[in-house]
Parts: sequence; structure tokens; C-alpha cells
Amino acid sequence: MEQSFVFFNGEIVDEKDVSISIRSKVVNYGLGCFEGIRAYWDDEKGQLYGFRLKEHYERLLESAKALNMDIPYTVQELCDVTVELLRKNNFKTTTYIRPVVYKGSESLMPTLFDDDNRLMIYCQPMGKYAGKSELRVAVSSWRRITDTMLPPRTKSTGAYLNSALASLEVLQNGYDEAIFLTHDGRVCEGPGENVFLVKKGKLVTPPLSDDILEGITRDTVMTLAREELGMEVVERSVSRTELYNAQEVFFSGTAMEVTAVVEVDNRKVGDGHEGPVCKKLKDMFFNITTGGNEKYREYLTPVYDK
Ligand SMILES: Cc1ncc(COP(=O)(O)O)c(C=O)c1O
Repeated sequence: MEQSFVFFNGEIVDEKDVSISIRSKVVNYGLGCFEGIRAYWDDEKGQLYGFRLKEHYERLLESAKALNMDIPYTVQELCDVTVELLRKNNFKTTTYIRPVVYKGSESLMPTLFDDDNRLMIYCQPMGKYAGKSELRVAVSSWRRITDTMLPPRTKSTGAYLNSALASLEVLQNGYDEAIFLTHDGRVCEGPGENVFLVKKGKLVTPPLSDDILEGITRDTVMTLAREELGMEVVERSVSRTELYNAQEVFFSGTAMEVTAVVEVDNRKVGDGHEGPVCKKLKDMFFNITTGGNEKYREYLTPVYDK
């Protein structure tokens, strides 16, 4: 592995000098929460742009608060240290940033009660997450965790076992990605992405009360649909069979970006290819990630001095 710098215990250090105890609660019980952020590289301008850093760190602090894992950093400090870390690594490619807040305590008791809250941030280059632009998906037999059990909005480390089980099931069955239903059977989200449908010219997506993560890409997509395409965006509960008859279905997420779903449970969505609304939103999304539209400049944090 090339030399990699990470943020660990309050400083930027060489990754090979970092270790976490095998006894720590994050290793044993998954007691942590995290974020997934992208920084987009623009070859023409020679610039790397952190995408919506502020919103990601706000969400991280909210997750941490819900889990009694308050950390002594402000959103601004977290944004600043991320820029410093990207610079130190000298990334000249689109990069994924992974901050993790975790319980470092080595006590055996699986409780969030103690104050041993720590933060680490690492980064790695990341291109296309799914490896393809049109996905075949299946509804998983595993239901999404619910707010009364393990709050999905906290983006907590342990909760990704639920995501991993759904992914395992559908990948073993030859699909590209899963869609979860909520515990009472409404369409929820993917294991790491939100879901959208185009129905009768409107953009439809499950509401926050249906146990989804409040996706930052979801928010971006809804804004672009309203502002740039003049579409009506409706947040409402969605039934499984609505997926089969939608004109379009697509995912949104930091890793997944905006990616078309062309088949659900072996039924073709629309004509079985990426639809026009998904294509337009995807193109606009990529354009704003590298500063192509002044109106959305505030989403971006340039990493390198120019
Ligand atoms: C379960 C889940 N839903 C949705 C998303 C999409 O959220 P965002 O667009 O903020 O990356 C993610 C990714 O973080 C996720 O893990």
C-alpha cells in the first residue's frame, strides 16, 4: 500500500502507526457511527472539491449525540481537518472520506454509558461504486431495522450488519443490489442508498418516517428535480408493487451517486434502461460536484490553494 495519512487520536499520522485494541467496543459490539463523503477531482482545474462536507459532519455529530458519543469537535473543525488530511495525502483523484466515531473502551459490558469516544478519519480513491450504470435489484427478505430497535438515521456501525445481510442475499442470487422493505412492508431504501421512483411525471421517494437514512445525495437530487427540472417531488410511503410499474427507479447515495435501477424482482422497469429523468439528474449532479454550476457552489469545499 502507498503511504497513507489518517486522522487518529487528534492528529494526522501515518496509517501504519495506527492500531485499535482487539478489546475495544467498536470491534466487539460495533459501537460506533460513521460518515461516507466524497471529494471530486476536476482534472481541468487541478482541484479537488469536498462535496457537502458541512452536511455530512452535521449528520455525524447528530448520530454521535444519539449514541452518547459526543466528540469535542465542531463541524467547522471537522471540515478543516478533512481538507488538511486530503492535502497531506495529495490526492489527485476522486476520493472517499470515511470518518468514524467509536467507543474505544475495552470494558466487556456492551453499553454506551462510558465517555471513551474517539474519532478516526481515513480516505481512499473511489471511482464507480457499483461498477455498472444500470442495476438489477431484488427486494430482500430481510426487513430494515426500525427506529424503535436500532435507529437507521444514526448511521451506526452495528446497523450495517442489517445492510450486509440484505446485500449478501441478493448478491448470492445474482442481483446487483438489494431494496429493503420497512418492518411493516413499505419500500424503504437500499443497503447504502436511497431510492426514487418516477410516477406520472412526479418524483416519489419514501419519507424520513419510513426508517430511511436522511441522505445528503437524496436532498441534492430533490433540490435539482424541483429547481432545475421543475418537477413535483413527493415524499410518501411506497408499496413494493409500485416499483414494478414505475416509469423509472433509481438510487442516490454518496458511494452510489445517482444510478439507474432497470429491473426489480425480475420485472423490467420502464423499457429496461436508464430513463430520461435519472439521466438528467445524474448529469446535473456530476456537473455540480466539480463546480460546473455557480448556483450550487456552496456545496463545494476546494481542497487545494489556487
Ligand atoms: C443506509 C443508507 N441509506 C442511504 C444512504 C445515502 O446517503 P448519502 O446520500 O448521504 O450518502 C446511505 C449512505 O450513506 C446509507 O448507508
